Amino acid sequence: MPFRSSPSYMNLRLITIIVILIVSCKTKTADWQSLDFGDFKIKAPNDWRKFNKHGIDAYIGGLTNGKDSLWFYFGSFVSGFQGNNENYLFAQDTINGKIAAIKIPKKDSAGAIEMFINNAQDQTKFVLAGSSANRHLVLKIFKSVVFQSSDTTKNGTLNTSKFKEYPLGSGTTIYNWNCKSCHSLNKMLVGPALTTELINSRTKEWLYTFFKDRKNLKQDSLNLERKKEFGETNCIELTDYSKEDVEQLISYLKGQ
Ligand code: HEC
Repeated sequence: MPFRSSPSYMNLRLITIIVILIVSCKTKTADWQSLDFGDFKIKAPNDWRKFNKHGIDAYIGGLTNGKDSLWFYFGSFVSGFQGNNENYLFAQDTINGKIAAIKIPKKDSAGAIEMFINNAQDQTKFVLAGSSANRHLVLKIFKSVVFQSSDTTKNGTLNTSKFKEYPLGSGTTIYNWNCKSCHSLNKMLVGPALTTELINSRTKEWLYTFFKDRKNLKQDSLNLERKKEFGETNCIELTDYSKEDVEQLISYLKGQ
């Protein structure tokens, strides 16, 4: 006579499977921990430990699992990505409300994965970088960084297909390449200082039309006044950039 499981035996088996599933899900998330660095927190798998280095005018340190390491810099004296950027691809993402520029090597494992946040906390800049064959893991660690002024409800969806050739794909890069010659964030140069007040006086839609479709921008008193102040010099237009790129630039300007 063939073996037939009784209904109660089936139930028991089902319950056992559910219990195993719940326990394994729990351990999966419990495999990650939050490392507290004081000014910020970073989540990483349980076998990662933090380390601190003594920086003179910046907070320097990192986290490691003994094999892979990520270094951070938290201070005021870096601007954007340093060094040769030819062999990298770039993307911009919102990480817990902070605009982050991220670069990855074009070839797997040939160079560092690096993240730069221009305004991490009260104008302090943040860099997190390291080399690892496990890109997915490093990006997941990047996405977990939380500062005191972070907003954990605001997150972008970054995936590797969003990474592009330099200089596209990053609001920071587009800004550095196209705007810095005439603008500073706090001083008047050829154009007005791009202060938070100035940027906030314009909506995202207004800024988009200003850069992409200026002929259809409705003239307003604010802009006419600025025009008078700056005479013949006009701000540039970004007709060659895609919609997505200009939107990323505006996110960068708006800091969100
Ligand atoms: C050749 C110099 C020059 C460059 C390059 C330039 N700007 Fe301007 N910008 C100006 C001048 C001059 C004004 C004021 C007159 C005007 O509005 O055209 C201005 C105005 C502005 C304004 C204020 C608009 C308003 O009325 O509220 C913003 C915002 C701005 N620029 C952002 C940018 C950004 C972002 C970039 C880079 C993509 C950029 N500018 C590149 C010269 C420049």
